[in-house]
Amino acid sequence: MDPSASELKQRLAEAGQSHLLLFWDELSPEERSGLTLDLQGMDFQELNGFFKKAVELSRSCKDEKIDSRMEPVPQEVLGSVTRDKESLKCWEQTGLECISQGKVAVLLLAGGQGTRLGVSYPKGMYDVGLPSRKTLFQIQAERLLKLQWLAEEKHRRKCFIPWYIMTSGRTMESTQDFFSRHNYFGLDKDNVVFFQQGMLPAMDFHGKIILESKCKLSMAPDGNGGLYRALGKHGILEDMGRRGIDFIHVYCVDNILVKVADPAFVGFCVQKNADCGAKVVEKSNPTEAVGVVCRVNGHYQVVEYSEITLATAQKRSADGRLMFNAGNVANHFFSFSFLKDVVEKYEPQLQHHVAQKKVPFVDAKGELITPDKPNGIKMEKFVFDIFHFAKTFVVYEVLREDEFSPLKNADRQDGKDTPTTARHALMSLHHRWVLNAGGHFIDGNGTRVPAIPSVSRCGAAGGVADDGNRTLKDGTDLPIKCEISPLVSYGGEGIEVLVKEREFHPTLIIDESGVHQLVKNGLEDEEEGKVLFGQL
Ligand code: UD1
Repeated sequence: MDPSASELKQRLAEAGQSHLLLFWDELSPEERSGLTLDLQGMDFQELNGFFKKAVELSRSCKDEKIDSRMEPVPQEVLGSVTRDKESLKCWEQTGLECISQGKVAVLLLAGGQGTRLGVSYPKGMYDVGLPSRKTLFQIQAERLLKLQWLAEEKHRRKCFIPWYIMTSGRTMESTQDFFSRHNYFGLDKDNVVFFQQGMLPAMDFHGKIILESKCKLSMAPDGNGGLYRALGKHGILEDMGRRGIDFIHVYCVDNILVKVADPAFVGFCVQKNADCGAKVVEKSNPTEAVGVVCRVNGHYQVVEYSEITLATAQKRSADGRLMFNAGNVANHFFSFSFLKDVVEKYEPQLQHHVAQKKVPFVDAKGELITPDKPNGIKMEKFVFDIFHFAKTFVVYEVLREDEFSPLKNADRQDGKDTPTTARHALMSLHHRWVLNAGGHFIDGNGTRVPAIPSVSRCGAAGGVADDGNRTLKDGTDLPIKCEISPLVSYGGEGIEVLVKEREFHPTLIIDESGVHQLVKNGLEDEEEGKVLFGQL
C-alpha cells in the first residue's frame, strides 16, 4: 500500500469504516485507484455525524409525532387564483415587469433518479406521447422562451430568464448532452447553467457504509435539499448576483403543467414582500403522495407524505375539506437575499431525513445480495426544509387541473401520476384553452362535442360513444387530442385570433407554423391521417 493509501486506511479505521477495504487485496490496480479516488473525496467523520443526527431525528419523530403541533396555513398568508381573481392581473403584471428587468431566474431540481418511473435516463428527457412528442425539458424550455417574448413585448426590453439546472452524478452528463444535441431548445446557451448536487453513501443500520461491489460504494444523490450546499459549492449564487437576480422560482422536473417562472406567482410573492413562498393545490385525498404545507410550532414547514400519520391526514374541517389540504406541488419562490442567507448561514443546520431502503450489497464473501427487506438507510435533505427560516412566508393556491400533473410512475392500469395521466392533463388543459377562446370541437359526425365532458356517455365498460369520443374503463372520457405549443401560448393567452368561432376535428395542433388538424377523430390509439390544413 502506498503512503496515500495507508493514510486512507488510517482515516477509515478512525471512522470505523475499515470494512470498505475488505477486498483490497483482490482488486486490480484500476479498481484500487477508482476506490481510492472515491474514498479520498469523503469526510468520514462528517458522514458519521450525519448518520448519528439523522437517526436521532428519525427516532425522536417516531417517539413524538408532530401531528399534535401541526396547524393549517392561516388565511392571511394565502393568495388564491380562484378567490383573488381581481388581483391576479396585477400580480401577473408585477411578475412580468420583474422578468423584463432580468430579475427573475428559475432553478430546476433534476437530480432525482426516476426510480419509480423506472427509466435509466433523466426524467426531463421523458416523452409522454404527446402529438408533438416533446419531452418535459423541451416543454419547459419553450415556456421560458415564450415568457421572455411576452415580457419583452410588454416592456419593450430584451430580457432573459436564466435557467439553473441541478443534476446529480447520475444525470449530469446525459442532461447536458441532451440539451446540447437539441441546441438548448432555442434558448441562449449562456443562460442555461448546469450544476451538480452532492451524493451520499447508503449506510446500514449501524452506520457502516454499504459496498455495492467489492470496489464501489453504494451512492445516491443527497436529496433535493442538497441544492443549498451545491449552490454554494459551484458558485451559483455568485453567478446569480452577477446577473442581478432578485427572485428565484424553484421547481421539480416532473410536473408537465408547470408554469415555469410563473409571473403571477412571482408577482404575488414580490407584492407581499415575501422572502419565501410555496405554490399549493388542494390535496385530493388523505393518502395522496404530496407533502402538506402547514405550521408546526408557529413555523412554516412541509410535512412530507411519508411523515404524516393517516389519522392526521384524514382530519376534516367543518366544511368537509381536508384540514391539511395545502398540497405541496414543489414550486417555491425565494428572494435572492433569503437564498443567500440559507446557503451561507442556515444550510449546516438542515438535518437529513432517513429513508429505509433495500440496498443491494456485497457480503463478507464478496457475493452480491439483493435484500428482500430494508437493510439500510439513505439520507436526504429536502428543498423545503428551509421554510422555517423565512421571515415573510406566503402560500399561493392554484388549480390542480391547470398546474399540477406530476410524472412519477410507469404506466399501468388505473395508475396515478403516469405518462398517460400527464399527457391527458396537458391535452385537457389545451382543450379548455380552445373552448375559452371561443373555439369548438366536432366529432366524426360533424356534431359539436359538449364543452363539459360527461362522466359516462357509454357506460362504465368503456368503448366508443356516439360522438366518436372514447371512454375509459372507469367511464370518464379520454381527452380530446389537442396540443398547443408553448411557443404559441404560455397560459392560454393569444389563441383567440386562431380559434374563435371555428370548429375543429381532433387532433388539433397549434404550433409556430400554424393551426393543424389531423384527420380521423383524435382517438388516442388511432393512426394519424394527413394534415388537413396548415398555415392560417
Ligand atoms: C416531491 C415533494 C413533495 C411534493 C411532490 C409533488 C420533496 C422532498 N417532496 O415529492 O412534498 O408533494 O414532490 O410532486 O420535494 N430531486 C433532486 N435530487 C434528489 C432527489 C430529488 O433534484 O436527490 C428532484 C427530482 O428530480 C424531482 C424533485 O426533486 O424533480 C422531486 O423529487 P421526488 O423524489 O419525485 O419527490 P416526491 O417524493 O414525489
